[in-house]
Amino acid sequence: MIYLKTPEEIEKMRAACRLASLTLGEIAKWIAPGITTNRIESIVREFIHDNGGRPACLGYGGFPAAVCYEVNETVVHGFPSNYTLREGDIIGTDTVVELDGFNGDMCYTFPVGEVSEEVLALCRTTKESLYKGIEACREGNRIGDIANAVQTYCEKRGYTVVREMCGHGIGRKMHEEPEVPNYGRRGTGVMIRSGMCLCIEPMINLGSRNVVIERDGWTCRTRDRRPSAHYEHTIAIVDGKTEVLTSFSPIKEALNERYI
Ligand code: MF3
Ligand code: CO
Repeated sequence: MIYLKTPEEIEKMRAACRLASLTLGEIAKWIAPGITTNRIESIVREFIHDNGGRPACLGYGGFPAAVCYEVNETVVHGFPSNYTLREGDIIGTDTVVELDGFNGDMCYTFPVGEVSEEVLALCRTTKESLYKGIEACREGNRIGDIANAVQTYCEKRGYTVVREMCGHGIGRKMHEEPEVPNYGRRGTGVMIRSGMCLCIEPMINLGSRNVVIERDGWTCRTRDRRPSAHYEHTIAIVDGKTEVLTSFSPIKEALNERYI
């Protein structure tokens, strides 16, 4: 069942998404060679708590952290650890913040220090494909239009699309219907309507599209261990207009000329 949100509920979605965006902005200040993902995790927990939110990933289906950490070949759902970030790594941080009963979900993949041009291009293309998906996310279009826009953009440039994981509806729950895949045919799937809140989140690989789940039951990595990138926004359709509720602006402000 798809829950269409009222204007009052959309206002709460905006607030939750604002806090999610500030949280990723806080993370951006700390991303550098030498920091552990455990340290980032403790900074995030304090930040969300101090701002009156709840880290929705923590305890979700048994997930042990506020943020999913996606270093290099990790596609999604990695745990924090004593791994120390190194020059040349990329790290996706994916977090869901609940505020006043509603959820904001977003992800950003950061380069750590100097990163190879090949991997930077993967990140840029993945981020651009998110915006292609958002352009296709219009009232009257269908979910397959979003999916096809992301897939076409990435595959034309030689990258591959992870199929096992999808975007999703969002609201009082982190995951609501419908699923929003990153591959598919135009004109297929659920019609996009006012009141819908959707998360679009391309997960794009440099090598093959195949992934495996580690024995912890969560960590999803590329089978060939080549890098994967992931960007995500939460979007609402309000009175026929598409509104991106999360924002990368706090990240941009934190990174300045290092922003890609
Ligand atoms: N953005 C991620 C998703 O939609 C958040 C996962 S949180 C977790 O799948 F708790 F499930 F890990
Ligand atoms: Co999501």
